[in-house]
Amino acid sequence: MTTARAPGKVILFGEHAVVYGRPALAAPVTQVRATASVEDAPTGRGLCIDAADLCLRRQVQQALTPDDPLYAIATTVRHTLDALGVAGWPDLALSVSSSVPMGRGLGSGAALATAIVRALAQHLGHPLQAQEISDLVYQTEVIHHGTPSGIDNAVIAFEQPVYFVKGQPIQVLQVGRPFWLAIGDTGIASPTRDVVGDVRRRWQQEPAKYEDLFDRIGAIAVSARDALASGQIAKLGRLMDENQALLERLDVSCPELDGLIQAARQAGATGAKLCGAGRGGNMIALVAEENAESVAAALRQASAANVIVTEVKSPRPLRSRQQRISNERSDS
Ligand code: MEV
Repeated sequence: MTTARAPGKVILFGEHAVVYGRPALAAPVTQVRATASVEDAPTGRGLCIDAADLCLRRQVQQALTPDDPLYAIATTVRHTLDALGVAGWPDLALSVSSSVPMGRGLGSGAALATAIVRALAQHLGHPLQAQEISDLVYQTEVIHHGTPSGIDNAVIAFEQPVYFVKGQPIQVLQVGRPFWLAIGDTGIASPTRDVVGDVRRRWQQEPAKYEDLFDRIGAIAVSARDALASGQIAKLGRLMDENQALLERLDVSCPELDGLIQAARQAGATGAKLCGAGRGGNMIALVAEENAESVAAALRQASAANVIVTEVKSPRPLRSRQQRISNERSDS
């Protein structure tokens, strides 16, 4: 059996504006993960998907219609087999599971697709480069989100903090001084496709206003990249607050997000904002390591459905990352 995993993610700066070509920053969140396992099946069985979390099990061909709940998974499988040059349906059993909550801005769809691509490619003896995986997962993101920028598949496939501009090669973010985030979940599922679609309609109605907001969000992302590289944590916090104010003007925040953001600031967070599409899902608060638990407690007190505390730092050198990934595979 071959098992592969992929993390969740948070958008640090620049969501929505990134769909319109402005830069954005994102980081992987390894406390939540999607897992895919592939094993050979008896001859003639074809390819079967088992999504135990959803209590669904199907032959992949049966799931290849857009209204099937496993459509995105089945399509990811087909795209991956095509990229690997595998015609037809090999006799395989694919099991998937995930601790990345769905519809909460943590990249659940991209994480699951990344785990599936990695597991299939590894099992069939053709491991793919991160960029190839990201490109394949982008096709799944189109199914989930309609007009994705591509940032979710990039940060998850590369498993590194990234500075991202749509259509350009990713840049790994330099993190001068590691920092901590408390990630608070409103408990409200908010489909990215709907929120992105709504922002697009408003942009079409008032292009000058929205272009200006996107420009200002993009400028914050550039400043945040520089503040991160030089380890200016206090400045990073101010930029988060400014980014949140602009997201409110885009009308993608909501009372539950506002409540968690306010609770985090009152508990001593250096800055806070929603992350992902908004109107539900998660928010992030920039916290000092010694303050992380009290901000997390304040978020729970303010009715967060879940809180994750995570550290963001520069990636390990490629060699040790590859070693870790191959160790994970041999563990399974
Ligand atoms: C979703 O994680 C971030 C958005 O900017 C959409 C996208 O970039 O595709 C809202």
